[in-house]
Amino acid sequence: MIKKIDHLGIAVRSLDETVKYYETALGLKCEKREEVESQKVRTAFFSVGETHIELLEPTSEESPIAKFLEKNGEGIHHVAFYTDDIDGQLKQAADSGCRLIHEQPFEGAAGKMVAFLHPKSTHGVLTEF
Ligand code: CO
Repeated sequence: MIKKIDHLGIAVRSLDETVKYYETALGLKCEKREEVESQKVRTAFFSVGETHIELLEPTSEESPIAKFLEKNGEGIHHVAFYTDDIDGQLKQAADSGCRLIHEQPFEGAAGKMVAFLHPKSTHGVLTEF
């Protein structure tokens, strides 16, 4: 079952400049930075209540985030829902006709298991569990 929005993923060109914006303009504190090899990104995390902001900067031209930036510019890249049963959640989405980007969950940032639904089958929002 989905319990909450875990985080919003935001694609940015420069992690340093964007972290500075969140810290100085919004007064939030960057809690953690991490490079995620599997997605070819550097991330920075902020907490906003129970929800997080995940800034994503590409580390390679091949990164899905590099492609997103090229096409859309900076902005919201995905919405991540926290679920207590990722396999069941993926099955429910697949059974209802959603296209899965990942059939099997894989290890994402902070060692959490994650998987994505394709935005073409989610009314435009890249969806992460
Ligand atoms: Co995410």
